[in-house]
Amino acid sequence: MEDQQTPLFEELKTEDGAFDVQLRPQALTEYIGQKKIKESLSIFIEAAKQRGEALEHVLLSGPPGLGKTTLAHIIAKEMGGTIRVTSGPALERVGDLAAILTNLSDGDILFIDEIHRLNKVLAEALYPAMEDFVLDVILGKGPSARTIRLDLPKFTLIGATTRMSLLSAPLRDRFGNLFHLDFYEHDEIVEILLRSAKILNIQIDANAAVQTAKRARFTPRIANRLLKRVRDYAQVRGSGNATDTLAVEALESLGIDAIGLDSLDRKILMTIIEKFQGGPVGLNTIAASLSEEMETIESVYEPFLMQVGFLSRTPRGRIATEHAYKHLDIPLPIRQNAFL
Ligand SMILES: Nc1ncnc2c1ncn2[C@@H]1O[C@H](COP(=O)(O)OP(=O)(O)OP(=O)(O)O)[C@@H](O)[C@H]1O
Ligand SMILES: [Mg+2]
Repeated sequence: MEDQQTPLFEELKTEDGAFDVQLRPQALTEYIGQKKIKESLSIFIEAAKQRGEALEHVLLSGPPGLGKTTLAHIIAKEMGGTIRVTSGPALERVGDLAAILTNLSDGDILFIDEIHRLNKVLAEALYPAMEDFVLDVILGKGPSARTIRLDLPKFTLIGATTRMSLLSAPLRDRFGNLFHLDFYEHDEIVEILLRSAKILNIQIDANAAVQTAKRARFTPRIANRLLKRVRDYAQVRGSGNATDTLAVEALESLGIDAIGLDSLDRKILMTIIEKFQGGPVGLNTIAASLSEEMETIESVYEPFLMQVGFLSRTPRGRIATEHAYKHLDIPLPIRQNAFL
């Protein structure tokens, strides 16, 4: 089990295919969980519609797979506007932005995914676009260069980010609505699994859904991915009906343990414990000794490890907690107590 390559992150990186589009809720009422966000959004949307205005710009932050892109599409639908989708790294010049923005109509949505990766020049060009719906574009080069000011439609910008801390304060402050998506409750993940199973016509026992939910890291995308694996396993090894025994077997065969840790989670914790006596140890040191990217560990792995209380961040570095030792069945060193 230990040596199995992790499927989770590789899959999180890939674009959601037709599978996810099919499972994506289309309306706020279909969107499970995130109750507070839904409540606020439905009021803001209703109010904007009553006034006949565009919705104030929305910033969605939170770990991957929690439903930011889904929510952006739902907002566009509920507002009755068209959505244009792009991402921070895809936009290089102000001209790219101008081409998109000038093609929007009043009330349309511009969705910028990974907005923390927008370059500085573009981020600055966005300030007047967001505040006053104008965009300054420089035409030509050198002494003959001139600036023209384009009037833009009254659009709504929806930004999504997994790395809120990398967003500049001036950009962040220009969003009227900031929402942070948190991990889902266990029961909500069960509900998401049952909804997806119904859409995909998968026979899954209630207990199998519970077992799958326990290993889904409180994340809808992972729940859906695991469901697909459980279905395949039940089809090949069973009669097609996913029982809880089959579900557990399927997930164990993927190297996922009883609470959803995969092999890289375990490697991260083992590195801190075995090589660095439980920490504190810097993130860059952990990343280097695992030959993994710092960003992957920080934005994909750590939020969950902290959520389950296995890892804590301190000013001096990361620490493996007592819970982590217990879960991995490693005796707690005497010295470790000093940190807990
Ligand atoms: N609240 C929800 N209810 C039901 N299904 C959901 C919900 N949120 C997300 N999903 C499912 O999870 C999948 C992943 O969600 P989504 O792509 O919106 O995540 P994301 O936050 O944009 O992730 P990333 O940061 O990687 O872009 C969706 O395709 C959808 O099927
Ligand atoms: Mg997304």
